[in-house]
Amino acid sequence: MDKIKIIGGQSLSGKIRISGAKNAALPLMCTSLLTKEPLVLKNLPQLADVFTLGSVLSHLGVKTTYEGQAIGEHQATFHAQGPILPEAPYDLVRKMRASFLVLGPLLARTGYAKVSLPGGCAIGSRPVDIHLKGLEALGAKITLEDGYVIAQTQNGLVGAEFSFPVVTVTGTENILMAAVLAQGTTRLLNCAVEPEITDLAHCLQAMGAKIEGVGTPILTITGVSSLHGTTYSVLPDRIETGTYAMAAGITGGEVELIGTDLALIPTTSQALEAMGMTFKKTAQGFIATGPSHKLKAVEVTTDPYPGFATDLQAQIMALACVAEGTSLITETIWENRFMHVPELARMGADITIKGNTAIIKGVNSLKGAPVMATDLRASVSLVLAALTSSEETIVNRVYHLDRGYEELENKLGACGAIIERVREGSTYDISTTTHPLKAAG
Ligand code: EPU
Repeated sequence: MDKIKIIGGQSLSGKIRISGAKNAALPLMCTSLLTKEPLVLKNLPQLADVFTLGSVLSHLGVKTTYEGQAIGEHQATFHAQGPILPEAPYDLVRKMRASFLVLGPLLARTGYAKVSLPGGCAIGSRPVDIHLKGLEALGAKITLEDGYVIAQTQNGLVGAEFSFPVVTVTGTENILMAAVLAQGTTRLLNCAVEPEITDLAHCLQAMGAKIEGVGTPILTITGVSSLHGTTYSVLPDRIETGTYAMAAGITGGEVELIGTDLALIPTTSQALEAMGMTFKKTAQGFIATGPSHKLKAVEVTTDPYPGFATDLQAQIMALACVAEGTSLITETIWENRFMHVPELARMGADITIKGNTAIIKGVNSLKGAPVMATDLRASVSLVLAALTSSEETIVNRVYHLDRGYEELENKLGACGAIIERVREGSTYDISTTTHPLKAAG
């Protein structure tokens, strides 16, 4: 398995182009199932999760073509002309939970869908009960058989009112995609309002869907009989944006983030400002600048958008580890999202967990260490922590990073980080005392 080797201690300086958002790209790809015409997605990040969902779509009968070499130029065409096989097997769905997003579109398109239940996940139990209740409200008959959800309708989905009992991102996306082809009007209450949902709604509108209330918790959808193809550009990744802003912060550096918008991370930028960072909008994005002295402690609680994103919780904890004072970080979305804590502790962090709150006493510096994490955001928090230590850190299980960070080592390397991917099978010896990277750097 590939590893990432980092020798930190440099202040990052330079420009980073932000990729298209993973969590916008995945539902957008699923909209291709709603039309017989081609859907072209521009600014599509080349990530393991995108290719995994691409394989699921291919299995269902969607013709998929990827193009473009550079970040920002990647695009793909998804053409679900038919016939569609409305069955997504366990072997494909288990690789990535977001594959469950094919359920709503498949049901809307064919009146039948058999999709494997995604199963548990490292960050929590992640049920899909609300997705199923929402589809039932639209008239679907749902049965569970041998680990599969079978959803069917007699004469198509029918518009209805449904209130989400818990704010759910992919739940809102699944039901929205189903409702656009339902007969009559659907009113969805207590919808998630993450920018990725707004992006999905805009793409659906470009395909001919009738949706009102976009960007608010109440969506009113008037069903149409068919949608057409379109070309749509995926919005910039706000989690990647926040992560690289924090990379500038934790190294006391200055990085311009290109192709993104400060407005995508309102609560994060406030928290980082409270820690001593500054932000300046530019024509192409914004400049994130770390404090000249130490970061200050922070208090954050994760919440659905526009609250502090759970997907940035592990990263801000890395900053808190080296900040002056005691920080409090509370996780309210996922019950098991502190797996980075023992790994950060191995690097010398002082963290105590009480319930769903982490109490972090800032230390002067972190040490290098071999570390690993069991999810994407936890892994990248270890990368951020490693950037502060002049000792060597090896981050194992890089496949987690490849799920959500396009060209991470190139982006950080271009800003002066000493970072290298050690390919599987390479003869690199972790106990080496001379650092080839240091020599090269
Ligand atoms: N929930 C239920 N029942 C459901 C659905 C959700 O109880 O049917 C609960 C969950 O257990 C959780 C809460 O609702 O406690 C919120 O979960 P949500 O459904 O919003 O999460 P998700 O849609 O599965 C998306 C992102 C996650 C991100 C969360 C929260 C995608 C593909 N995934 O997951 O992203 O953490 O929203 O913002 O959009 C990541 O990118 O690293 C990642 C995990």
